[in-house]
Amino acid sequence: MKAFVTGSTGLLGGNLVRLLLEMGYEVRALARSAHKAERFLEGLSVEIVVGDMMDVDSWANQMEGCDLLFHTAAYFRETFRRGDHWTNLEKVNATNTLRLFKLAEHYGIKKIVHTSTNAVIRKRKDGTVSDEEDLLAPEEALNLYGKSKIVADRAIESFSKTHDIPIITVLPAWMFGPGDAAPTGSGQLTLNFLHRKVPGTFRSGIDVVDARDVALAMLRAAEKSRGGERYIISGHYTSLEELFGIMNSVSGIPSPRRFPIPMVFFSTYLNERMASLFGKETDVSMDELRVMTEMKRTSNAKAVRELGLTFRPLRQTIHDTVQWYLNNNYLTIPLELSKGSQDGMPRGL
Ligand SMILES: NC(=O)c1ccc[n+]([C@@H]2O[C@H](COP(=O)([O-])OP(=O)(O)OC[C@H]3O[C@@H](n4cnc5c(N)ncnc54)[C@H](OP(=O)(O)O)[C@@H]3O)[C@@H](O)[C@H]2O)c1
Repeated sequence: MKAFVTGSTGLLGGNLVRLLLEMGYEVRALARSAHKAERFLEGLSVEIVVGDMMDVDSWANQMEGCDLLFHTAAYFRETFRRGDHWTNLEKVNATNTLRLFKLAEHYGIKKIVHTSTNAVIRKRKDGTVSDEEDLLAPEEALNLYGKSKIVADRAIESFSKTHDIPIITVLPAWMFGPGDAAPTGSGQLTLNFLHRKVPGTFRSGIDVVDARDVALAMLRAAEKSRGGERYIISGHYTSLEELFGIMNSVSGIPSPRRFPIPMVFFSTYLNERMASLFGKETDVSMDELRVMTEMKRTSNAKAVRELGLTFRPLRQTIHDTVQWYLNNNYLTIPLELSKGSQDGMPRGL
């Protein structure tokens, strides 16, 4: 079996490529930069295809000869920073994703596993846990990134009504894990904590998941699902305070103190305004705050039931994330970790 993976230099894509190879798949991987892919996927037997989601037609024929398409690439982190990103969000995450799927079918791909997000799920008013049926409308999204994924998911659903190719959509919670090279928001939070740059914490409720568990969910979805399904992939409901507590127990670095939510919103608002005046970025944006304080819970019951998923303990995920940053020289401070599992990833960047 041969798999085509987009986003191979990303947190999820990199872990998925490694898992597929371990499971005996051949892998062809899309990357925007050959140089980055060669460093990040160093030592792995992967065919690299250089291409950009901004121009799918120029490289889509490289999917020929592959059986499965795993689509993890997205215009993602930038959305939470200043400026209007809608044009790119809509193009990469929706319009060109749909174009990719059309061309995938044309070039003989037999099944697609697509990556959405649990940001497309609505928080239930009665406080019970939301599931795959609780879908937001585009105008209800908490931010433009979420909106682009909702628009894409709806377009994919319509596409599936007129095309035979099976498409399964996974909806990951906030992902942590080794191999977060860029880094994404979770990796940046971890690095900020380790460098004692987190000014405070606040009441929050977030679903999180290990990127390696999401990779396994995607593989199981490809192997077990006949298509047309969506699965929330959420490992643990937690809070910033719990995450910092685990980071503290792994690294020995103290957790920041707690502040009242209104104060946090006010200071983040001011920080954002100041940052935009000076052309800089803030560590936490208003969009991220809204997500972290919404206190939405999403259910992994369908993925557990139908894909047979289990989830790594949160401590292992945080330990392996920190270990990966340590191994790959992201830390400017000396650090000795408490005992735990290995990060499971080779040195990449
Ligand atoms: N991280 C999370 O917490 C989270 C939660 C829910 C859903 N998701 C979804 O999970 C997927 C993977 O995210 P991730 O966390 O792995 O993010 P990531 O580490 O930022 O990886 C994103 C990947 O997409 C690639 N990419 C971005 N723009 C591209 C373009 N125009 N053309 C081709 N490739 C492009 C990036 O390539 P470069 O290396 O060249 O930048 C990178 O390989 C995304 O669909 C995201 O929306 C993420």
